[in-house]
Amino acid sequence: MEKLLVHGGSRLNGTVAISGSKNSSLPIMAASLLTRERCVIRRVPDLSDTNYMVRILATLGANIERASGNVIINAEKISSQAPYDLVRKMRASVCVLGPLVGRLRSAVVSLPGGCVIGDRPIDLHLRGLEALGATVEVKGGDVSVCAADGLRGAEINMRGKHGSTVLGTGNVMMAAVLAKGQTIIEGAAAEPEVVDLATFLNAMGARIVGAGTRTIVIEGVDELGGAEHVVIPDRIEAGTFLIAGALVGDDVTLENVCSAHLRELIAFLKQSGHPVNELDGDRIHISAGVELRGNDLVTGPYPEFATDMQAQICALCATTPGISVVTEAIFPQRFMHVPELNRMGANIRMEDATAIIRGVDKLSAAPVMASDLRASAALVIAGLGAEGTTEVNRLYHIDRGYENIDDKLRRIGARVDRVKQ
Ligand code: EPZ
Repeated sequence: MEKLLVHGGSRLNGTVAISGSKNSSLPIMAASLLTRERCVIRRVPDLSDTNYMVRILATLGANIERASGNVIINAEKISSQAPYDLVRKMRASVCVLGPLVGRLRSAVVSLPGGCVIGDRPIDLHLRGLEALGATVEVKGGDVSVCAADGLRGAEINMRGKHGSTVLGTGNVMMAAVLAKGQTIIEGAAAEPEVVDLATFLNAMGARIVGAGTRTIVIEGVDELGGAEHVVIPDRIEAGTFLIAGALVGDDVTLENVCSAHLRELIAFLKQSGHPVNELDGDRIHISAGVELRGNDLVTGPYPEFATDMQAQICALCATTPGISVVTEAIFPQRFMHVPELNRMGANIRMEDATAIIRGVDKLSAAPVMASDLRASAALVIAGLGAEGTTEVNRLYHIDRGYENIDDKLRRIGARVDRVKQ
């Protein structure tokens, strides 16, 4: 196992190039199962999560080549049974369900377990597939979905108690594109990654309108062809670096970003007193503010504040003067980072799914660990501003979602060392 030694005290200066989106790449790679023809997906980040998806598709029978960020997939002959030993390692594997049942009329995928950010049900995915005429059976830890006579378009309400479901919307969209007739998805997720998936599916010949709104309308077609696609920038990686720049940045520029995907975060940082400048559509400048004040946020489905940036914001607010109140409305248990930040000297009190953060002058380094990739990133950020050297253990969590994070940090002046444990 590896850990990251984060030597606090350095200021960040320079330009960091943001990678393609992990959460866009995963469903788009799965969507390539919907055609026998060749698909080329560009700017796929080299991460353990995308590597898992490559292995899952290969195990299903697809031919895959991967070179310098491009993934070329040819799913001419595929089976419908996703491999348990790979699927259990990554919840997002569930997004092969929709394309498999859409193309093969059957799919067997092991149920995703819970994880540290909370239980990860897929009831909304299954409700959507049943509405399209599939039968669903959960047995022995697997979910089997079958539609012997093919899928039929339907009106589907995808709303859950925590709002919309991102991968659920993607799964149902990927199943509906080859269904007979029209499908209307109400309560759809509107995340940029859902829009990116719809763009890719339409490039394959699907007929989808409304992606990015709560109502998506899909006209089923008989078959889909191959397509080429460049995935959108990773807005969560971009947000993570923006927050690091707000904490210890003098002059940091992010490139290859889409600032339109970061509205809530940019507003939060500005309200807190950090000067954020959108230089043009794909570059943003950030430096640490001087007159800072506590601020409040509640996470929610896009375009509300992203749950995947909540932990990183807690790390920033830990040393922001005043009181900040952070409420997690998507994954109420997603606070693995709080006890670790408090071990570094933060003053955070939990009340149900709300963190009440009283800013302290400075955190002090400590050996820390978190078992959620975003919480781990939050601890790296905290270490950048802390006194001393913070050891962030179990680095594999970060490597799931951040491409070469230590190289990128070093390139803008951070003193970080990846060492074997
Ligand atoms: C996606 O997960 C992201 N992962 C997550 O990012 C992100 O945190 C999440 O969306 C919310 O934005 C990928 O895109 C690969 P959901 P997903 O279904 O689709 C409940 C990261 O850090 N729900 O939108 O699995 C669920 O419990 C990861 O990159 C049901 O109740 O999340 C949650 O409370 C972590 N039933 C809420 O909906 C369902 O059938 C949103 O979950 C599905 C979800």
